[in-house]
Amino acid sequence: MLTLSPKTLSSSSFTLHKSQNPRRKSPNSGRFRSSKWRPSPISVKSEVHIERDLEFETGDTFFRHESARGRDLGVLSATLYKRSIGSLRVLDAMCGCGIRSLRYLVEADADFVIANDANDENRRIITENLRKVERGEGDERKWVVTHMLANKAMIERYMIGDFFDLIDIDSFGSDSAFLRDAFNALRLGGLLYLTSTDGYSSGGHRPYNSLAAYGAFIKPMPFGNEVGLRMLIGGAVREAALLGYHVTPLFSYYSYHGPVFRVLLRVHRGKLHEDRNYGFVTFCHLCGHSNTVRWDELGLMGCACSDTKASSSLVVSGPMWLGPLHDASYVNEMMELAKEWGWIGEGIGMDLEKLLSIMIEESDPRLPPGYTKMDEVASRAKMNSPSLKKMMNALVKEGYAVSRSHIISNALKTDCPMSHFIRIAKDEMQRVD
Ligand SMILES: C[S@@+](CC[C@H](N)C(=O)[O-])C[C@H]1O[C@@H](n2cnc3c(N)ncnc32)[C@H](O)[C@@H]1O
Ligand SMILES: [Zn+2]
Repeated sequence: MLTLSPKTLSSSSFTLHKSQNPRRKSPNSGRFRSSKWRPSPISVKSEVHIERDLEFETGDTFFRHESARGRDLGVLSATLYKRSIGSLRVLDAMCGCGIRSLRYLVEADADFVIANDANDENRRIITENLRKVERGEGDERKWVVTHMLANKAMIERYMIGDFFDLIDIDSFGSDSAFLRDAFNALRLGGLLYLTSTDGYSSGGHRPYNSLAAYGAFIKPMPFGNEVGLRMLIGGAVREAALLGYHVTPLFSYYSYHGPVFRVLLRVHRGKLHEDRNYGFVTFCHLCGHSNTVRWDELGLMGCACSDTKASSSLVVSGPMWLGPLHDASYVNEMMELAKEWGWIGEGIGMDLEKLLSIMIEESDPRLPPGYTKMDEVASRAKMNSPSLKKMMNALVKEGYAVSRSHIISNALKTDCPMSHFIRIAKDEMQRVD
């Protein structure tokens, strides 16, 4: 049986045999809408992968090793939860080959995990992978494998009052139909780890789709990938309010492969009566300035660059989450744990330390939604742009809040209006050091 401790787990994800995943295409890209559909059986030689020293197989299941960072973040959070509450019961609602379930059991020391995937053809692989952890019997049972639609798996638990500390829904597309069932099956104070892969909606190319999925009418904006995270959180805010709960984002993570939008939310009892963090975002195509608009300000929309209030250059998206994308003190705790486990300084992709430090910077509550790309500033100012570092120092000197963005490297988040931003950038370019 497995006796690995997270401290010994330091390597990143790699494949021993060349992975052909993801490649199985099915109706709805592998998304199950009813229990009637079954994928056509394709026989593929099973592959052995290693992630954080854990060996597992993926066979014909949907698996992406690029998602390892998202799994790392989930495991760090699950562990913090277990350490603070003392217990951890996880519902891995769309488990694929079961790698998340395995990592929650081994690394986060989960007391119990349901590894669910609608596709019962994944059963052998999931069970083989989880077998590394002793299953246990009766009340001591550590894991169970089920094959239900995620909604059914959650409703079933809710109906018998069996609540979970962490529900992980690693879904495709912008399917938000499971939000309500997830809130119902979650313990108060519990964690909900959500995924969306719908880059078309966040890019503003399918406003009626995002409206249906998250209740947000999204138009194209230069910071669409941040909008994708805010739209996902906003959808959860709305659904939670319906049930008399409210949610706080602990971290939000955009990853370009896919693209994938992930958010970890903590669920609390009680509605927020006046939610300043749920509203609209504007972007002015004329001057490049973006702003936020609350529900009670909808009739007052305009951009400072135009004389009239009704400015045709202004596009509006929302409602969505307007508050911080992450909770700084929580991400600091994740960083401490990552250090304790030797996960810092591995130099793979955007390393974890850099990702978490930028998330901490981005958590400043003074920072509004969106980011300013330095290329855009250069083209508006008709000049080269100063380095990020110079620009950050100059903005801070002028009293503005500023941070890098984990989403895009050559951009800054700031509360500085675009016209001042351009003026400061010009000054910086003229300055002789
Ligand atoms: C993105 S993959 C999961 C990958 C896995 N969580 C990982 O980290 O490697 C999504 C999985 O959800 C399953 N699935 C799709 N629709 C589902 C539904 N409505 N209920 C439960 N499982 C579903 C698919 O069979 C697929 O294995
Ligand atoms: Zn304007």
